Amino acid sequence: MYGLLLLLHILAATIWTGGHIVLSVVVLPNVLKQRSPELLLSFESVYEKIGMPALIIQIITGVMLAHRLLPDVSQWFDLSNPVAHPIMLKLGLLALTAGFAINARFRVIPNLSPSNLNVMAWHIVSVTVISVLFVVVGVSFRTGWFY
Ligand code: HEM
Repeated sequence: MYGLLLLLHILAATIWTGGHIVLSVVVLPNVLKQRSPELLLSFESVYEKIGMPALIIQIITGVMLAHRLLPDVSQWFDLSNPVAHPIMLKLGLLALTAGFAINARFRVIPNLSPSNLNVMAWHIVSVTVISVLFVVVGVSFRTGWFY
């Protein structure tokens, strides 16, 4: 069961983080050069079909993996427990991702135009950096970087 959870978690991480790196490094520069919201929206409409399920799998498997490490959920927020540190960091990164996603969905995307593309670009770059931090914190469970 542990192997399957880890496999799904890492597979979904490749989709979520990899997709955001492609968006930031390959798609976004073109969108900004051509000042084309349509280009961005067409990538997003294709990517979200696989990106959103990947994030949901990430959250479900992540919570199950964390539960395996610390079965008592109240300990996830116990600063004196070193194993709780990366779990708290992961949950903090998740809250930040949700904040950016909600703001983009309800405030930025409905008014997207060539003139406010930069606001959307900042959202995309921020979520991409956070997605890489998710991987860094994930690896730290083994390396103990945040213990
Ligand atoms: C997009 C979001 C996420 C990404 C990209 C991600 C990525 C990763 C990666 C790459 C690992 C390393 C696995 C290894 O070294 O074997 C990992 C481990 C882990 N992640 Fe995530 N993660 C995400 C979200 C979450 C969430 C929301 C939680 C919930 C608290 C979570 C909890 C864990 C746990 C507990 C481990 C350690 C598993 C173990 O070795 O027992 N992750 N994650």
